[in-house]
Amino acid sequence: MRTVDIIQKKRDGHELSGEEIDFLIQGFSRGDIPDYQMSAWAMAVYFRGMTARETADLTMAMARSGDQIDLASIPGIKVDKHSTGGVGDKATLVLGPLAASLGVPVAKMSGRGLGHTGGTIDKLESIEGFAVERTKEQFMRQVRDIGVAVISQSGNITPADKKLYALRDVTATVNSIPLIASSIMSKKIASGADAICLDVKTGSGAFMKTLDESIALAQAMVDIGEQVGRETVAVITNMDEPLGFAIGNALEVREAIRTLKGEGPGDLQELCIFFAAYMALLGGRAVALPEAKEQAEQAIRDGRALNKLKQLIQAQNGNPLVVDEPDLLPSAPYVVPVQSGITGYVAAIDAESLGVTAMMLGAGRATKEDSIDASVGIVLSKKVGDPVKEGEPLMELHMNRNDEAFVQEMVRRAARAVVLSVQPVEKPRLIQAVVTKHGIERIS
Ligand code: URA
Repeated sequence: MRTVDIIQKKRDGHELSGEEIDFLIQGFSRGDIPDYQMSAWAMAVYFRGMTARETADLTMAMARSGDQIDLASIPGIKVDKHSTGGVGDKATLVLGPLAASLGVPVAKMSGRGLGHTGGTIDKLESIEGFAVERTKEQFMRQVRDIGVAVISQSGNITPADKKLYALRDVTATVNSIPLIASSIMSKKIASGADAICLDVKTGSGAFMKTLDESIALAQAMVDIGEQVGRETVAVITNMDEPLGFAIGNALEVREAIRTLKGEGPGDLQELCIFFAAYMALLGGRAVALPEAKEQAEQAIRDGRALNKLKQLIQAQNGNPLVVDEPDLLPSAPYVVPVQSGITGYVAAIDAESLGVTAMMLGAGRATKEDSIDASVGIVLSKKVGDPVKEGEPLMELHMNRNDEAFVQEMVRRAARAVVLSVQPVEKPRLIQAVVTKHGIERIS
């Protein structure tokens, strides 16, 4: 087999065989196929696309390129949840304990934040003592004992995807549905998931800006799941504004704790109940969505979900007292309001821009090597559709510096992220569509 023939076949719009895809991926992963040939192939895929069968073969070839976690010794159907990335997305902090409290084993490997999006691992590390690195044995034992573990991605999971993603990033081939879908699904499959629940973000703060594009990506991932025997559900959710009110590590942990107490922001609460319900369905813990949602709401009402968070923190050497006393979490010394210049309504909040502002405050990293400050970030006071009076705060900036020039720059940046209107604005719908093996349901 020759790489050039495979590139040519895809360039001319033909379907590649599983053997050809495997040859390409394993060769590239070993370093036998150079970047320039792989880039040409990625560009051919960008223009020609891939069939569902090719996409599934690509996914499995990448999943096989490195370590594969075997979770078989943990009883039950292991359901993994993945979000395509958003600002203020602390759902895993809520969903891990919530789904585990419904009897769904959650063996989760999460990442750190980079650029304008945060990472679950950084958020958890704002809890004093919380250990994100565990041996495989500790990880498995914890899931068997308490039903949930959230650790940092370790080992050599999907090295082919890592290499290919880096190449796509610099060759304008990121935005290809088969390449995105196989990249995400290969990591979930190599991490041992039996079933997968995907949060596909749509809107200004997301990869996919329109609902139709998001549905196409969701459909590609559900199709991969079907082809490789991992039932997959994809929920399309709005990312035209941040999720919840808080952006920044310890601030998001506080909000997650409040949500597990039933006192969280409406959108975060709605999203977590919806996903927990689907995780319970996929995990065989419920037979219908309304019943599954009721179970999730009950686990919050009776404190089981919150107690599961305490167990999770304790099991990973963190201080579980933060659950009852969130003021033990790091807090920033300066809190600066960003005020509305007019009386009217919030028309839009640029999630990506606020994510960058939070990063500049110290909550995120510009490069992998940067350190972060767990205490800083942004807490919104208003969401899209809310009325606001002139001089009322739109949000508060939690800062560790109060030199005038920096404060003014941050306030200006944050204010620019909010669009105000004198006309009333409808609140956006959070859950916009659900894609399952049975089809697409648009929620109107
Ligand atoms: N997230 C991934 O993991 N891969 C992509 O290609 C895009 C988003």
